[in-house]
Amino acid sequence: MTYQREFERRLEIAVIGVGSHAYRNVLPALHFLPVRLAALCDPNLNLAQAAAEEYGNPRCYSSTAEMYRNEKLDGVLICVGPSRHPELSIEALEAGCHVWMEKPPSVRAADLDPVISACGDHVAVVGFKKAFLPAADKVREVLGDERYQPLRSILAEYPCAMPQDGKGALDERGYTEWLDHGCHPLSLMLSVGGPVSGVTTHKTRWGDSCCVLEFAGGAIGTLHLSHGAGLSQPCERYSFFASDATIVIDNVNRVSVQRGIPFDYGRTTTFAPPGFDCGMVVWEPQYTLGTLENKSAFTQGFYGELNHFCTHALAGTQPTLCSLPFARHLMRVYEAAIMSNGERVSVSEET
Ligand SMILES: NC(=O)c1ccc[n+]([C@@H]2O[C@H](COP(=O)([O-])OP(=O)(O)OC[C@H]3O[C@@H](n4cnc5c(N)ncnc54)[C@H](O)[C@@H]3O)[C@@H](O)[C@H]2O)c1
Repeated sequence: MTYQREFERRLEIAVIGVGSHAYRNVLPALHFLPVRLAALCDPNLNLAQAAAEEYGNPRCYSSTAEMYRNEKLDGVLICVGPSRHPELSIEALEAGCHVWMEKPPSVRAADLDPVISACGDHVAVVGFKKAFLPAADKVREVLGDERYQPLRSILAEYPCAMPQDGKGALDERGYTEWLDHGCHPLSLMLSVGGPVSGVTTHKTRWGDSCCVLEFAGGAIGTLHLSHGAGLSQPCERYSFFASDATIVIDNVNRVSVQRGIPFDYGRTTTFAPPGFDCGMVVWEPQYTLGTLENKSAFTQGFYGELNHFCTHALAGTQPTLCSLPFARHLMRVYEAAIMSNGERVSVSEET
């Protein structure tokens, strides 16, 4: 890991949209990335200027067109909102910039078609932070071990509401909670389980729901949207059931792999047999030291998603996680789930 001031090569970047999330989570994460912050852009120029004072006074603009006329940028970080992300991305790509954009990437899946066409060889990453959790890396690593293949099923629990009138929400291009928050657990599930071929959703009259995801690779997934659970309590949990191993991410920061013990039904006498090759392994951060691995920029995936973008933009290689085609597939799964009323809806597996 390298701090910003230590990198020899850095991307010249601008941050577009300096509202709540960019100020709280994106700008502070730049401290750990190979970037030089050249500009901030927000129609609310006062907001941009106040933030600029904290970050070495990059130039401030109220319009992206003016910024592109004046700046020579390698990349932009767009943090505005899903209705504006496609057009702002296309403008940036046409100005020759690599693009990182916050989730959700768009309001409708098809809105990403022209972004993909405009992308060419540029690097574009969507900031689905859950796919970049250190805990998610551990899950993908364990599932890469052929002893535990194949992945059989996934259970995800996440607090979020599913709209009652799915078609209406899509037709109105609404910014629903399912679009805003649902993409978090979906991105983690898809980054582990791969593309989905069909979705069936059942929901209560209050908006709690269960989405059954059929993964093209053969696994099945349940996304349990526990609208009743508030966001102020730790209630996010993922279980990945592989062959002879169960991996659990609890409250984002605790990963356990349950490998079982040598077992003879009715004859095994200890649950803790000798050795270290069986039973459960757990990883969780210590909070004693002021080091990086326990900071939310790292545990929540903000560093990971931005570092993935910077690494590929500097190397001129295509991202392996949360590319535009991945994002469009996720949006298709989102649309299928919102449209399903207990009926199976097919999803194109193309990513
Ligand atoms: N990953 C996460 O944990 C997380 C958390 C919160 C928000 N978000 C996402 O971040 C994005 C922004 O959310 P927010 O809560 O910061 O919203 P916000 O309204 O606080 O900030 C958006 C900013 O964009 C600016 N803006 C609007 N049009 C613009 C344009 N054309 N060019 C430049 N700037 C423009 C607005 O003036 C505003 O300052 C959303 O996509 C949201 O879903 C992600």
